[in-house]
Amino acid sequence: MDYQHVIEQVMSATKPHVGEGKVADYIPDLARVNPKQFGFAIATVDGQVYSDGDVDVPFAIESISKVFALALVLSKGDDKIWDRVRREPSGLAFNDLIELEVENGIPRNPFINPGAIVTADQLLVDTGDAVAALRTLLRAETGNPKLEVDSVTAESELRTGERNRAIAYLMSSFGNMVNPVDLALDHYFRQCSFSITCAELAKAGLIIARHGLRADGSRLLERSDARHIIALMATCGTYDEAGNFAYRIGLPIKSGVGGGLLAVVPGKCAVAAWGPALDPKGNSVSGAVALETFAQVSGLAVF
Ligand code: DON
Repeated sequence: MDYQHVIEQVMSATKPHVGEGKVADYIPDLARVNPKQFGFAIATVDGQVYSDGDVDVPFAIESISKVFALALVLSKGDDKIWDRVRREPSGLAFNDLIELEVENGIPRNPFINPGAIVTADQLLVDTGDAVAALRTLLRAETGNPKLEVDSVTAESELRTGERNRAIAYLMSSFGNMVNPVDLALDHYFRQCSFSITCAELAKAGLIIARHGLRADGSRLLERSDARHIIALMATCGTYDEAGNFAYRIGLPIKSGVGGGLLAVVPGKCAVAAWGPALDPKGNSVSGAVALETFAQVSGLAVF
């Protein structure tokens, strides 16, 4: 595969769409990001990285962290998380409360906010420090020893996190939180605030593309658990747009309101796109065009 050629096609198709959409403003720190940026990176399972655009500009990982938090929980070889969260698309916004009330405090999947808060709570139980566990993993896989939580973003998330608090207390009322709500949320807000570049995100995504193998060749996840994560990315990774993304792009993808999109082509590569301006559902507009072009030009769509 001539990935350099693929990237050239992606960059020219995406250019007219850079800046289209609206940066997330419900977290004030995200609203200050320049929407006219765009980066695209492909990391292949044999360790090559191809990239173009603003690939070295750090941005907030946001909901893409949910993939890595779930991977760490599943790496403990314990299925108990599946008693606390289901594996179905929600069909509703990532921070919806109604379904959670009707369904007795059990979130639909680990990639909407309630499911991710439960996963962060479980990771805290499993490791004693969910953020530290994620930091260690992300540093090792990206090769960036300085990768860190952006404290300004984390403070902004904490200050404006009333909806997430409502979600966590609702789950707590159903007995689906182990740690005190504030403690679990502190880890959740900070996990969303890791500052990462597009090239780093693609490299970290290789854990999933390699079906659980880490950069150093050791195994983080059983192959079957990596496959489970890939299935959840395809069905739930872009919230209530997952059907449309599967139709348009045809790859397992996880998005974040920082404008990042992480796609995996199992056994081949991980692809990261970043454009901070979002569509109304919270997914990057330019990133989606880029991944659509990537899938068309490379022929790597999985469906
Ligand atoms: O909890 C929140 O609202 C954010 N920290 C993360 C949400 C997010 O990225 C959803 N994504 N599209």
